[in-house]
Amino acid sequence: MKIIIINGPNLNLLGKREPEIYGDQNFETFFNKLKSSFSDLQIDYFQSNIEGELVDKLQQVGYGYDGIILNAAAYTHTSVAISDAIGAIETPVLEVHISNIYAREEFRHKGIISGNCVGMISGLGLEGYLLALTYFINKAND
Ligand code: DQA
Repeated sequence: MKIIIINGPNLNLLGKREPEIYGDQNFETFFNKLKSSFSDLQIDYFQSNIEGELVDKLQQVGYGYDGIILNAAAYTHTSVAISDAIGAIETPVLEVHISNIYAREEFRHKGIISGNCVGMISGLGLEGYLLALTYFINKAND
């Protein structure tokens, strides 16, 4: 089973970026723990601050992977290109947000990619990625 986590802009700063909102854990540390807990799966990770690179990655993995866990970060609220890429590919995309976007500024309440995703997890911290992974594992075992 092949799963990829794709993180968008500024998520490379996790651990030092607004820790009161995003926590103090660095994503690589979390990701390495996740990989060792699920060593029977292929779990890849990609992060970019650039919209087109996120579109390229979605296209690249969107026909061969079993699931995509996507935190498009700020592009969630603005990117028609990312939304269209999710709509175009075959692999299901599960949207994740570390913070509760509905408890924050109003501009974060609307995500334009959500309609093309299988679902969305928001506000559960990094655990949201683990829950998203569990969703894909359970779905494969159905
Ligand atoms: C975020 C929420 C977005 O509104 C914000 O722009 C991010 C991170 C989250 O994980 O909570 O960069 O996607």
